[in-house]
Amino acid sequence: MEVSLTVNGQGVTREVDPRTTLVDLLRDHLSLTGTHVGCDTGQCGACTVHLDGRAVKACSVLAGQAEGAEVTTIEGLAPDGELHPMQAAFRECHGLQCGFCTPGMVMAAVDLVRRNPDPDEATIREQLEGNYCRCTGYHNIVRAVREAAGRM
Ligand code: FES
Ligand code: FES
Repeated sequence: MEVSLTVNGQGVTREVDPRTTLVDLLRDHLSLTGTHVGCDTGQCGACTVHLDGRAVKACSVLAGQAEGAEVTTIEGLAPDGELHPMQAAFRECHGLQCGFCTPGMVMAAVDLVRRNPDPDEATIREQLEGNYCRCTGYHNIVRAVREAAGRM
């Protein structure tokens, strides 16, 4: 099947197997490897991207379901090479270690702050519970999101 969508502001069309997931379209067909695959079963959140402005787990969306949609990946958050405030806050607050979870965590956190501009710690922890991190213990991630919310 053919699928056409907008990715990071650019229109793209690709021929894909109907079983292709959105994350495989992004990584394998468009070389946007900033979006990671941790579990491939909708649990870890490493594959989180924005679909029409809302965070989704791209391993749980078929490429065909994104037909006509606007998708933003971690690459699209800093199109001119300048870090998005959420990325800058993760760096400054030491919200990452190995970085494997970080693209998905950042995309989920940006959506969270757009919907809730002044989230408290409990809200951040609850809303990011679909994004696993195996390094940081989450404390600095929460600090980073609070810091970025103030800047966004
Ligand atoms: Fe999609 Fe884990 S790879 S949720
Ligand atoms: Fe390593 Fe989160 S920084 S999994």
